Amino acid sequence: MHIFTSPESLYNHLRSLATADLHLGFVPTMGALHEGHLALVRQSVDENTYTVCSIFVNPIQFNNPDDLQRYPRTLEADCAMLEAAGCDCVFAPSAEEMYAATPVLKLDFGDLERVMEGAFRPGHFNGVGLVVGRLFNLVQPQRAYFGQKDLQQVAVVRRLIQDLGFPIELVSCPTIRELDGLALSSRNRRLSLEYRAMAPFIFQMLNEAKAKLQSGASIDDVRAFVKEEFLTHPEFLLEYFEVAHATTLQPIEALQPDGQTALCVAANLGGVRLIDNLVF
Ligand code: PAJ
Repeated sequence: MHIFTSPESLYNHLRSLATADLHLGFVPTMGALHEGHLALVRQSVDENTYTVCSIFVNPIQFNNPDDLQRYPRTLEADCAMLEAAGCDCVFAPSAEEMYAATPVLKLDFGDLERVMEGAFRPGHFNGVGLVVGRLFNLVQPQRAYFGQKDLQQVAVVRRLIQDLGFPIELVSCPTIRELDGLALSSRNRRLSLEYRAMAPFIFQMLNEAKAKLQSGASIDDVRAFVKEEFLTHPEFLLEYFEVAHATTLQPIEALQPDGQTALCVAANLGGVRLIDNLVF
């Protein structure tokens, strides 16, 4: 497995491979890898002839400096896992290598970023869009793999690809969970044992909300029910619970056809921000 830290060396290496039957799959990450990330890598390895994974804790997408500073960094272990998963190439630049000059360009994703993650993390999707765009230019993959765990990010990247005309197929992959339902996340390792034991409550709430909606409860009643339930679990600070359209992410007032209704939640547990969603 090749490991590059400079954009130029990655670019030159990948262009030197270019042949008509090269199919490049790309998995962007911020490292501290777990089975959720590795599922994306394995799918790329299955579907392409060459897989590149980037590991870069992108400072410009963090609206909270404390979150950036505490973000886990485990490059050596990450590379070992990537190699075992069949990844061909890792790109792990430093912030200085990625941003010789701080970008001034601002990306605005319109309504998509006025809700949920966009509303609660100002500037977040601008930072995601800029880094993903820059990585797309460097890697020039045919396919790029993203997890449904970050449903709004998938929608933002879809829009980026569409608006800037990147010739890239976005592949959205299912959320990988622990046995107790907690969605895998690099931030989970910051939960104390006590909070870790409580964390599956988030996925339980999503399932209960879905069951209520499917048995005819109104969306307003379900929103109120979930908020009430979180209030009875004061360890959780609920940021939002939304019933939204799965591709536009806008709030909805009626259930959508199959696969188009999304329940999205963000909550803070013991200082760790957790997000999850359920699409049905
Ligand atoms: P990161 O949080 O490291 O996630 C990298 C990719 O792994 C994302 O596409 C994310 O949705 C996916 N992922 C994370 N947890 C998952 C899970 N439990 N199941 C399935 N997929 C999962 O998302 C980012 O990094 C950054 O914003 C990035 C796109 C790299 C831009 O900096």
